Amino acid sequence: MITKPAYKELQQHFENTYSRNISELFTLEHNRAKDFSLNLDGLLFDFSKNNISEKTLNLLIKLANQSDLANKITSLFSGDKVNNTEKRAALHIALRAKNCHIRLDNHDICSDIKQVFARMAAFTDRVRNKEHLGYTGKAITDVVNIGIGGSDLGPALACEVLADYAIKGIKIHFISSVDGYQINHLLTELNPATTLFIIASKTFTTSETMANAVTAREWFLAQAQQVEYIQYHFVAASTNKQKVAEFGIDINNMFEFWDFIGGRYSMFSAIGLSIMLYIGSENFYQLLAGARAMDEHFVNTKELRYNIPVIMALIGVWHINFYNYASLVISPYNTRLAKLPAYIQQLEMESNGKSVNRLGEPLNYKTCPIIWGGNGINGQHAYYQLLHQGTSINPMDIIVAFSHQFSSTIHQDILVANALAQAEAFMNGKSYEDALAELISSGVSVNEAQFLAKHKLFKGNRPTNMLVLKEISPYYLGMLIALYEHKTFTQGVIWNINSFDQMGVELGKQLAKVIENDIATNHVSKHDSSTSSLIDKYIKCRFDSK
Ligand code: F6P
Repeated sequence: MITKPAYKELQQHFENTYSRNISELFTLEHNRAKDFSLNLDGLLFDFSKNNISEKTLNLLIKLANQSDLANKITSLFSGDKVNNTEKRAALHIALRAKNCHIRLDNHDICSDIKQVFARMAAFTDRVRNKEHLGYTGKAITDVVNIGIGGSDLGPALACEVLADYAIKGIKIHFISSVDGYQINHLLTELNPATTLFIIASKTFTTSETMANAVTAREWFLAQAQQVEYIQYHFVAASTNKQKVAEFGIDINNMFEFWDFIGGRYSMFSAIGLSIMLYIGSENFYQLLAGARAMDEHFVNTKELRYNIPVIMALIGVWHINFYNYASLVISPYNTRLAKLPAYIQQLEMESNGKSVNRLGEPLNYKTCPIIWGGNGINGQHAYYQLLHQGTSINPMDIIVAFSHQFSSTIHQDILVANALAQAEAFMNGKSYEDALAELISSGVSVNEAQFLAKHKLFKGNRPTNMLVLKEISPYYLGMLIALYEHKTFTQGVIWNINSFDQMGVELGKQLAKVIENDIATNHVSKHDSSTSSLIDKYIKCRFDSK
């Protein structure tokens, strides 16, 4: 149990209130929609359709205060080594800060950041203005970002969301998986003379990325022949100069970032080079501006009741630690935002999927839920059945942009109506009596109606948050990403965990190296009998298919 006095009070409050109906709260509180919504410059967060009252929020805020949240936020923004296991700061906010004055170990990191952005913008202009040409003198037509996890998800999301802001002339591609199909298939469509590869890897040691990078380099050299041509076609976004140079990329073509930018927090750094090349530097700076607006809101809104990321995080805590809800569904109503669930999945699950506290002591309370989801309108025709009538309750974030800038009004009306209707349906449900009356009035016999009504019953009382963006634009995407980053940080503070390491991904990587070696040497080392037999079968299959 979280050992804060407010936690006990919350438990008592939960016992007293858990079974109340969200819809009844609306009947009792005439201003509920207004009172339980917050706005920031065109981003509306409506959290009224949750089972919370003002008292719930007060107690949750008390818990945040007893967890020292305000000081922890200051610590994050001042560059303290909040990542206590790796002894690093987590300064993604410095990438977006306007008048940045953060010094880290007596070094002016803000001027480093500025310089890298200036180099990225100059490079983007040279590519766009056909000054940076391929080895045969042709303009670059295709940019391929090779990276995985945080070196892929953010840029891939941003390029898809902001496709309408893309400057014509350059196509963008993302390669992350090592299955070979993805890269080999893409390479058949590309011309080495007009393709630019960005090898995006914080460590420059990630095996999937390096395997794909080597394949791309071989493919390129098979046609270009000369190693010195690599400089026109391969650039890197990384923290690891030595490995970049060893790979054969000119250090002048490396766009640097630093260990104080976590992989899943890196889309606003040099890892965003593909975004900048695609939408241009001005739009990229708008992305930063949107994130900055959320950063400033988060750090400056001292009255936590009005702090959007804090309230979002606390509602999550209420659901996870008191209601025991095991998942959170991210449901964007916009095809452009379809990759958002995968992005937030890495952000939250890699940050807060932990079972020890900052001191390494085991936790006896729940932390990050399973984050999943997809394009909401498609989900309605697939997994929403379970969300409406399944045995588990899965809170949702429904995200929709109201402006119909890239859609006809008729399509947008249908989309928005569905997003709003779903939230209403999750909350209100449909009683047995209503279902029965509906069936009888549609001409179904009483007997049949009594049978069918049991199947048409929706219990309702299922919580949703609604996030409304004024429009789909770099600014609002930046804001949205920063909102979830700060929500994740806040939950990490409440759960007293380090949200900035990811040790849980290491074991599988280590074991894969052993098995790769077994395969390469045709010798199965010591494993359990299931793993040994599978390796053996794979080796035989590999041999047979040669
Ligand atoms: O394996 C997890 C991880 O380290 C993520 O945290 C990171 O975003 C991803 O791999 C890619 O790492 P890198 O940018 O170093 O290639």
